[in-house]
Amino acid sequence: MANCKPTTTGNVNLAVEVAGMRMKNPMLTASGTFGFGEEFADFIDLEQLGGFIVKGTTLEPREGNPYPRMAETPSGMLNAVGLQNKGVDHFISEIYPRIKDLDTNILVNVSGARIEDYVAVAEKLALLDRIPAIEVNISCPNVKQGGMAFGTTTEGAAAVTSAIRKAWPRTLIVKLSPNVTSIADIAKAAEGAGADSVSLINTLMGMAVDVERRRPCLSTVTGGLSGAAVRPVAVRMVWQVAKAVKIPVIGLGGISSGRDAIEFMLAGARAVQIGTANFIDPQVTVKAIEWMADWCVRHGVSDINDIVGEI
Ligand SMILES: Cc1cc2nc3c(=O)[nH]c(=O)nc-3n(C[C@H](O)[C@H](O)[C@H](O)COP(=O)(O)O)c2cc1C
Repeated sequence: MANCKPTTTGNVNLAVEVAGMRMKNPMLTASGTFGFGEEFADFIDLEQLGGFIVKGTTLEPREGNPYPRMAETPSGMLNAVGLQNKGVDHFISEIYPRIKDLDTNILVNVSGARIEDYVAVAEKLALLDRIPAIEVNISCPNVKQGGMAFGTTTEGAAAVTSAIRKAWPRTLIVKLSPNVTSIADIAKAAEGAGADSVSLINTLMGMAVDVERRRPCLSTVTGGLSGAAVRPVAVRMVWQVAKAVKIPVIGLGGISSGRDAIEFMLAGARAVQIGTANFIDPQVTVKAIEWMADWCVRHGVSDINDIVGEI
């Protein structure tokens, strides 16, 4: 595993631990918004991050949905990329050798249409010794259940989590869908089935219409809303989940600054992820880490772990 020397600014400790995964600071990048990390290497030193999560990886290559699959909305964006990726074998043979020696945590986001597919991806990744954790995207449609997302029922969330638990020996993070009535119940189901941590939120289902063309903006009609617009919903859900489970919570959804990251940590997140904001400013993550350290100094906080769940 990476050495992950803690980020210390002055006397402030920013290092955190998520279920055995040591991070130099709480900052991760969100899957699907940061490629394989390499794409950002011209803009930031990747080793300054607590870690990064590579794009959703499936057993077989996927072409994704037809265009248009992105639309701008007030303070946010809608996407229906549809998990375009070249498959886990491509990641293992082409990408992993290029990024594996970075001194930061490299996480893989695992997606699938069948439980067997998730398990097969986890088994292949388990053979790589520089992947300390996987993040399981349970917002994917389950082909055996008419396309209903695994993560929208407690039974579905538990089934996929327990199957992957048997195949994955290291830190297992289950990424929750916000498109549910009680996200705390889904989090508890994942915890009960063996998740080491939960991350939330994935995108909120939304829709936008081009009124001149009188057509939906996306080819799929509906898509996932992300960016600043979703932040208050995400903060509320992180707060509810952190009160409901004992495992560490990773917060995301609309974070675009150190201020926003601190907001999530106060609400109960042990670590955070920045997603859509990377498209606007590719240096947003490292700027946020610096701001968080300054905030700690201003507030007399010597260890960032002390503020987790203060609310
Ligand atoms: C273009 C795009 C692609 C995404 N792809 C994935 C993915 O492959 N797997 C996943 O779990 N989440 C994916 N997400 C969701 C993000 O990781 C994140 O949960 C969501 O965008 C909320 O965070 P944000 O507001 O900071 O972007 C994607 C989001 C966007 C905008």
